[in-house]
Amino acid sequence: MMTAQEIRAQFLDFFRSKQHKIVPSAPIVNKDDPTLMFTNAGMNQFKDLFLGNQVPDARRIADTQKCLRVSGKHNDLEEVGLDGTHHTMFEMLGNWSIGDYFKEEAIGWSWELLTEVYKLPKDRIYATVFGGDDADGLPADEEAKEIWKKYLPEDHILYFDRKDNFWEMGETGPCGPCSEIHIDMRSDEERKSKSGAELVNMDDPMVVEIWNNVFIQFNRKADRSLEELPEQHVDTGMGFERLCMILQGKTATYDTDIFSPFIKYIEKQSGKTYTHSYDPKNKVDIAMRVVSDHIRAVAFAIADGQIPGNTGAGYVIRRILRRAVRYYYSFLDIKDPFLHTLIPMLSDEFAQVFPELDLQREQVAKVIEGEEIAFLNTLENGLRRFESLSVEDNQIKGADAFELYDTYGFPIDLTRLIATEKGYTVDDKGFEAALAEQKARSRADAQKEVGDWQIINDGEEVEFVGYDTLELKDAKVLKYRTVKVKKKDQFQLVLSQTPFYGESGGQVGDKGALWIGEEKVSVIDTKKENELTVHIVNRLPADMTAEVKGFVDAKTRHATENNHTATHLMHAALHQVLGGHALQKGQNVDHKRLRFDFSHFQPVGAEELQEIEEIVNQKVRENIALEEDRTMPIDEAKAAGATMLFGEKYGDLVRMITFDANYSREL
Ligand code: ALA
Repeated sequence: MMTAQEIRAQFLDFFRSKQHKIVPSAPIVNKDDPTLMFTNAGMNQFKDLFLGNQVPDARRIADTQKCLRVSGKHNDLEEVGLDGTHHTMFEMLGNWSIGDYFKEEAIGWSWELLTEVYKLPKDRIYATVFGGDDADGLPADEEAKEIWKKYLPEDHILYFDRKDNFWEMGETGPCGPCSEIHIDMRSDEERKSKSGAELVNMDDPMVVEIWNNVFIQFNRKADRSLEELPEQHVDTGMGFERLCMILQGKTATYDTDIFSPFIKYIEKQSGKTYTHSYDPKNKVDIAMRVVSDHIRAVAFAIADGQIPGNTGAGYVIRRILRRAVRYYYSFLDIKDPFLHTLIPMLSDEFAQVFPELDLQREQVAKVIEGEEIAFLNTLENGLRRFESLSVEDNQIKGADAFELYDTYGFPIDLTRLIATEKGYTVDDKGFEAALAEQKARSRADAQKEVGDWQIINDGEEVEFVGYDTLELKDAKVLKYRTVKVKKKDQFQLVLSQTPFYGESGGQVGDKGALWIGEEKVSVIDTKKENELTVHIVNRLPADMTAEVKGFVDAKTRHATENNHTATHLMHAALHQVLGGHALQKGQNVDHKRLRFDFSHFQPVGAEELQEIEEIVNQKVRENIALEEDRTMPIDEAKAAGATMLFGEKYGDLVRMITFDANYSREL
């Protein structure tokens, strides 16, 4: 049997042999894209290459990407545990063409890999192609069908509509028709009695999609229209766990060597037996799948810097974690913190593929254990509250179920389960109404309507000149848009060049002023959106085509820079005093103050704190000049001992800042 490690290596070797550059997975937590919380597909990190906002340094790329589909357009969370193929975190094997090859090679290579390298039986393979869409004015993808006819009989090539065969990253962004590959794993007997073609896309557990080939040609805009991209791209994604399931002759991903060691461990620790059952009443089996799945999402999100919390991405991670705790507490009879004990196994399994977990295993386990302890406390309190509820007509009121959910973190199904044990029902409708009300409230709070970019001048490559000057001359407006935040208009500009630093790496964005023609416009803030620098201005000028000049507010920027420098000096001091593991986890720097988060096993002691202060003050007094290497190959920076952070996406060329070669070097 091929192991999962071998299967992954063969994929990457295959595309390496087709001149693809193999790159590392991007972090699972998406920090630079306001349209997406978590990486949900391998292509996310290449979005700007598809849209033409960035020039590629390689046109053929492949990798395995950590993905999470638990929020937004792609959300599988509720299914995880119930069946044998859904996951929170999964690996997506992908190959990409950035304006290079197109359908012919993409389809040809996927066929070659599946049938010649992985040796899948050809007669079990089905391909789907896009059947066209009237609303979008798109024809059926006859070209893909013709290419598939070289490999498959016609009755194995099926048309599907937009829902299945037009892939979109989110509400907006790169998209295009796609061609999926499905495998029929049924026995020969079953295959004789019913054709696999009838079961494709029908949720049959034995006829599953494994690979999607997307032919990216459009950008979906906020007004729902499609804009044709200047170049055609290929974006593919193969579900690694499903591929392993098929190649290892299993019928569930949980039976592959990716998950089975975890299930065995959970069996041993709980004293219960896994029976490979998908009966919704078999809570023990569901709980074992849930725990073995959820630990991956939680651990890798934390390793990439997303600490569980009360809002946004942090809350999503906390919910996943609590879902797992609830399952082991209620169904595996485990009453003490347990998830964190899976970290050593998980770290070992992925040490070669995603080393960030292995390198922070103690810290990640500590964070998870802390969360478990906290939730196990509210679980108990919630159970006590449950006992004190006044129940009429043997029914738990919707408002009470909502209180359990909202205050004690009880998912509604846990409330339902406990209710059943006591012979009660739950007023589901009342609960849903209270929940909907809360959701409507938070939706209204978060309301933000982002308009489409209006193009004024061509050109997407924005030159950042702000390391050398704070003055802007001879620039043009490239595009602008209006964003409504809580019903108020805000205006955003992208310029052909800019000295304005867009908020990133924890440093606030610059403020300042622009003159567009004769009109003065204030820059209230500057943000980064992927590779674009977006200037937030108080109003739009009458003539957008006029020449743009301007200044960054120098006093504020310099004070901010000083504080940023102080974080470098402190980071190095932390390493000296606490150790190399005390790495930056986040920072927030403006002209008045700095905040610096880092990981350490315990609170910093008074003496250590004093030592750190003394080192930093001494370094400040040394008045060390800043040394800048603006475009340094990443390997050279590593060799020079630059501090690298987890959860950061570094390019091939990095900017290295040194304060005394023997003291502080950061990217
Ligand atoms: N981006 C495509 C998907 O996620 C390949 O299915």
